[in-house]
Amino acid sequence: MSDYLLDVKQINKRFGGLHAVRDVNLQVRRGEIVGILGPNGAGKTTLFNLLTGFIPPDEGTVNFQGRSIRGLKPHKIVNLGVARTFQLCRPFVGMSVIENVLVGSLGPRVSDVDLGARAMHLLSEVGLAEKADTPSELLSYGDLRRLEIARALATDPELLLLDEPFAGLGSAEIESISALIRKLHTEKNLTILLIEHKLREFMQLVSRVVALDFGEVIAEGVPAEIVSHPRVIEAYIGKQTPEALA
Ligand SMILES: Nc1ncnc2c1ncn2[C@@H]1O[C@H](COP(=O)(O)OP(=O)(O)OP(=O)(O)O)[C@@H](O)[C@H]1O
Ligand SMILES: [Mg+2]
Repeated sequence: MSDYLLDVKQINKRFGGLHAVRDVNLQVRRGEIVGILGPNGAGKTTLFNLLTGFIPPDEGTVNFQGRSIRGLKPHKIVNLGVARTFQLCRPFVGMSVIENVLVGSLGPRVSDVDLGARAMHLLSEVGLAEKADTPSELLSYGDLRRLEIARALATDPELLLLDEPFAGLGSAEIESISALIRKLHTEKNLTILLIEHKLREFMQLVSRVVALDFGEVIAEGVPAEIVSHPRVIEAYIGKQTPEALA
């Protein structure tokens, strides 16, 4: 059996003539926070969509906990312990904050008798307890990001995929969500895959980075190696303002 919690080999996805993900290999050990870096259109979200069953790969293998999850529907993959958030927040409109979280807890992984108490506990973990009864469409952007995370946690994941959790947030909110991600990692022993463009916070959170450009892995390493990697600088960091890394 593989040593890796997630083991992706030679995965490919084409959209017509566009090769969005090309021969990507990705190995993640239990307990790691691995960052996925790359310019707009590099294939990061497509990679998440492939791992979570939202779109099927054309080629390649995706193993989670030693078993193939390739081609499984999203809910089956969630039931095996892989949860995600979306680049654009997608709350269940018309439902309150706590109802959104309760929906996430309906799968077979959750055996708690009192789902309401469990949902409240999750909301307090992400800092939303006081807004439990608020209609989800009334939340600020930062709170929507928290709700997305709570809803993913409600499925009791082993692996959490976060697609740009800082997008659209101001610096205080970024710091607060960043602290939340760190807390989830240490307290819940979650393994995390993180896509982010906010480089300073990203590099502080992740233990290892996989950099993509035009769907291909162009570099892999610890943050210090990645920020000075010529191909990453050429494809990505060169286009950032110097303050982005300060
Ligand atoms: N369903 C789809 N049909 C056709 N093309 C798609 C589809 N999804 C993504 N693409 C294309 O695949 C490429 C990779 O897109 P993707 O969303 O994965 O990029 P990304 O790295 O997440 O970028 P960003 O940082 O802007 O979110 C882009 O050129 C995008 O237009
Ligand atoms: Mg994306």
